[in-house]
Amino acid sequence: MNEPPDHALSLWAQLKEDWQTHQSDWTKPGFRAIAVHRFGVWRMQIQPKLLRAPFSLIYRSHYRYVRNIYGIDLPYTVTLGRRVVIEHQGAIVIHGESQIGDDSIIRQGVTLGNRFLDRPFEAPHLGKRVNIGAGAKILGNVVLGDDVNIGANAVVLSDVPSGQTAVGIPATILKTQLSSADQHSQTVSAQRETSC
Ligand SMILES: CC(C)(COP(=O)(O)OP(=O)(O)OC[C@H]1O[C@@H](n2cnc3c(N)ncnc32)[C@H](O)[C@@H]1OP(=O)(O)O)[C@@H](O)C(=O)NCCC(=O)NCCS
Repeated sequence: MNEPPDHALSLWAQLKEDWQTHQSDWTKPGFRAIAVHRFGVWRMQIQPKLLRAPFSLIYRSHYRYVRNIYGIDLPYTVTLGRRVVIEHQGAIVIHGESQIGDDSIIRQGVTLGNRFLDRPFEAPHLGKRVNIGAGAKILGNVVLGDDVNIGANAVVLSDVPSGQTAVGIPATILKTQLSSADQHSQTVSAQRETSC
């Protein structure tokens, strides 16, 4: 069954869901980064622009705090799904044109960015339940399907089909894939239950 899109939920409902996804710990930098992102998206609906201005001021100062202090650069222009987890903090850079599907996990040292200087707006599109290992770099206009696993420190330069695992530099798909979404879900839920 399809879930309602983010904008169908109130800001409060989104924040509550994100808080629960981050082990109900409001001090986690990942939760705070996502909360600031949700607020940044929410304030854009305020009209006229003059009325929005104080909210934008609050958003920008919090965005900068999260970026400079926690090292998580997550602009409000990112299309962020529901229950996305940002595990840990530091050197996390998400391109403003990126898309991250529901229930995905982003870890420390991950970059979702453009690949070529002369194509600055090309950014990765991640499906649902995508599990990105620590230090991985996903570069350019690549599409990662649902239930994809990316190994720690991989550099992903091409599309990864749903249910597959890619590792290495440049990342290649592991051949001995059982390619079961159930298996992936078990991995993701096991990793959600542990903190690392
Ligand atoms: C990729 C990963 C998800 C394991 O997937 P898997 O399908 O279970 O893969 P396996 O462990 O069976 O390994 C398969 C092959 O990939 C290799 N491999 C696994 N992870 C790798 C990685 N990150 N980089 C390069 N090679 C890797 C293994 O050495 C093995 O190679 P071999 O067949 O030549 O022996 C896991 O290794 C990983 O990188 N997880 C990221 C977790 C993370 O970031 N943790 C930090 C928490 S703070």
